[in-house]
Amino acid sequence: MNNSAIGVFDSGMGGLSVWRELRRQLPEESLIYYGDGKNCPYGNRSAEEILTFVEEAVEALLARGAKMIVVACNTATAVAIDTLRSRYPIPFVGMEPAVKPAALTSQSGVIGVLATKASFGGALYLANEARYGSQVQIIRAVGEGFVELVECGEERSPEALQTVRAVVEPMIEAGADRIVLGCTHYPFLTDTIAEVVGDRAVEIIDPAPAVARRAEWLLDQNNLRAESGNVARYEFLSAAGEEYEAMLAARANSLK
Ligand code: DGL
Repeated sequence: MNNSAIGVFDSGMGGLSVWRELRRQLPEESLIYYGDGKNCPYGNRSAEEILTFVEEAVEALLARGAKMIVVACNTATAVAIDTLRSRYPIPFVGMEPAVKPAALTSQSGVIGVLATKASFGGALYLANEARYGSQVQIIRAVGEGFVELVECGEERSPEALQTVRAVVEPMIEAGADRIVLGCTHYPFLTDTIAEVVGDRAVEIIDPAPAVARRAEWLLDQNNLRAESGNVARYEFLSAAGEEYEAMLAARANSLK
């Protein structure tokens, strides 16, 4: 038993899509969310730069006693998860693009994957593509401009619809019936993506619930669960300062 908080990290606000699932599935666990905010977006940055930012975040979370860290960022996972696991003594949960469930359930044999440039270049994604690419056709696309829209809270604007349509429409026209959200910012654009999809039978897959289940499993494996009846605390940190921290808290509190 351990009542310390679980650390949750992202380049910005996107990881709140995972934070929401952690809160839902693990209501007795305290969570410290670190949204970099200062260096977001990470997606087009070099691996060296991303690793530096990730280490800064992890150090800040460890300094606050995090017992486990969920890297709620596909880009940071792609670049840094192996380094983190070898360097620090606590368990780390990473993001994995949900290529497997999409490939296994697709009826059309075509799936679309949305992620950042850095995620597509990572060994994790490439291994997934090599594994399932022979069973289904995989169309990958960078969600160009998506992260910026979410950071500005502009997910339902006309500009968002146009930006999302430009990326998602070609996937659907190519026959994709599954769209994998391979960046934690993208679930905030689900309604906009659904608008582009319209009445076509396309399932949008967010890996956050599976990541929260994995976190729960790891807590049990390591005997790190909070005591029954523990009253969870939620804290928000950022490299971008107090104003951004307040924005994170407000956004998190507004999530259902
Ligand atoms: N939310 C992130 C991810 O899951 C990072 C996006 C970015 O900063 O470019 O990949």
